[in-house]
Amino acid sequence: MIIIKSKLEQEAMRVAGHAAGQVLEDVAGFVAPGRSTKEIDEFAAERIRHYGGTSAFLGYRNYPCHICISVNEEVVHGLASDRRLRLGDIVSLDVGVKKDGFIGDTARTVPVGPCDFEKQKLIDVTQQALYDGISCALSGNRVKDISRAVQNCVEASGFSVVREFVGHGVGRTVHEDPQIPNFVSAGLSPELRPGMALAIEPMVNAGTAAVKCLRDGWTVVTRDERLSAHFEHTVLVTEGEPEILTCLEKKPSRLKALS
Ligand code: MF3
Ligand code: CO
Ligand code: CO
Repeated sequence: MIIIKSKLEQEAMRVAGHAAGQVLEDVAGFVAPGRSTKEIDEFAAERIRHYGGTSAFLGYRNYPCHICISVNEEVVHGLASDRRLRLGDIVSLDVGVKKDGFIGDTARTVPVGPCDFEKQKLIDVTQQALYDGISCALSGNRVKDISRAVQNCVEASGFSVVREFVGHGVGRTVHEDPQIPNFVSAGLSPELRPGMALAIEPMVNAGTAAVKCLRDGWTVVTRDERLSAHFEHTVLVTEGEPEILTCLEKKPSRLKALS
């Protein structure tokens, strides 16, 4: 069942989304060579508190960290550890902040120091795929329209979309209906309506789409050990343009350029 948010709930989603966006911005700025992922998670915990929220991930299905930190071939749900970031790594940061009962969910992949052309291309294409998906989050469209836009962008660049993990509705809990795959498959797909809050989140592999989960029970990695990137925004479907709740700017120019 897809939950339509009331005007009041939408306002709470804006507040939570803005906090999540702020935290992600701060944490991305904290990423540097020599920092351990544990230090980054602790910094994230402090920033989440600073903005008056709590981690939406800590304790979710017993997840043990405040945010998800996934390095290089790690796709999602990476666990904080003593591992230190090195120049040339790419690191995916996924932040879920709960405020006043509602959750904002947002992710981005950043390079550690300067990065070569191929890595930057993977990052740029994944971000573009997110914005292509967002531009289809329109009342009257179907979930499938988002999926198709993401998949087309990714595959046109020769990369692949992960199948095992998908975007989702978000609200009082991290994962609500509907699922939002980053690929199209046969069958009916729900129609989008104003008041739906969606976490759109392409996970993109440089090589093949295949992934596996490590023995820690959480960390998802590419099977071919090539790089993976992840971008995510929480988006509100409105009567008009999609509203990005986890964006720091009111009207992101990238989306304007696309619409
Ligand atoms: N951040 C993930 C998502 O975007 C969910 C993480 S759940 C956790 O859907 F338990 F791994 F934190
Ligand atoms: Co997320
Ligand atoms: Co999500």
